[in-house]
Amino acid sequence: MKNQFPHLRLRRLRDSANLRDLIRETELSINDFILPLFIKADLKEKIAVSSMPGVFQLGLHDLPDEISKIEQAGIKAVLLFGIPEKKDAQGSDSMHEHGIIAQAIKTIKKIAPNLLVIADTCFCEYTDHGHCGLIAEHNGKHYLDNDATLELLQAQALTQARAGADMIAPSGMIDGMVQAIRNCLDQNEFNHLPIMSYAAKYASSFYGPFREAAEGSPSFGDRKAYQMDPGNRFEALREVEQDVKEGADILMVKPAGAYLDVIADIKQQYPHIPLAAYQVSGEYAMIKAAAEKGWINEQAVALESLLAIKRAGANMIISYFSLDVARWLKAR
Ligand code: PBG
Repeated sequence: MKNQFPHLRLRRLRDSANLRDLIRETELSINDFILPLFIKADLKEKIAVSSMPGVFQLGLHDLPDEISKIEQAGIKAVLLFGIPEKKDAQGSDSMHEHGIIAQAIKTIKKIAPNLLVIADTCFCEYTDHGHCGLIAEHNGKHYLDNDATLELLQAQALTQARAGADMIAPSGMIDGMVQAIRNCLDQNEFNHLPIMSYAAKYASSFYGPFREAAEGSPSFGDRKAYQMDPGNRFEALREVEQDVKEGADILMVKPAGAYLDVIADIKQQYPHIPLAAYQVSGEYAMIKAAAEKGWINEQAVALESLLAIKRAGANMIISYFSLDVARWLKAR
């Protein structure tokens, strides 16, 4: 019979579920996921973060239960944020061997030596002004003192390394942070510790709920002077180029969902460097809120949003949905 319409029939490949499974390019695995945890000093009972249903501020004594739940779910890595009892201008608690982050790392490594513990390395949760480093004043104007902050970042990273962190993740967008931390780790017998750099981190309004969870809102101004302008796509490649030169082992894009173009660009230019993407608090909160209203299907939308992040080029995803993902993937 003569073929009257000899057009390409892609639908041939979609008719059966088995065939769809065979040709699928991207699939989620629990191996891709990193769960963020907020650990607060002197907490009697864990506190729910109201803008992030399912997320809690944890005390040190909540860790045994939480960590065993995480391990049982098959999650391989956690990203730690500490919330100290006392904040000051330098964020001293984060550099102290008995500070909350050092204690949290030690506690988790004792409970679960095989769980990969990644330490967020930044000052906004530890300073009384809520900025990501030291604040200086010049002609009546306050600004973040980049180079003075580098020395403090070295001290913080070293404290985390000594406590037993498996990876250091500087998130402050301080110029030179990767090199400063690399030098410090290398000089202190931690040359085996990798650095995951928040290479392209945007000054995003999607961080809103996180600031409740981590109690790290800036008390004045915003972070536009150090985080990237959401209008800039190609500038991300300059940020990445710099971090690669400085020795970043893993790169990160943040937020994820609204920046898939940036993820794709970086993966294309640097296919040989592992890339992480952070599905941030606002992305999580929006899905949760719409699902609570019954407007969307939480599981389906969450998994689709995460799949899109991976499809764009992320090799790993930091997500507050990680525990749910573990459950959802198992049930499939
Ligand atoms: C800063 C930091 C922030 C987030 C992670 N690390 C907040 C900020 O830069 O204001 C946001 C993460 C999220 O929204 O889930 N140390």
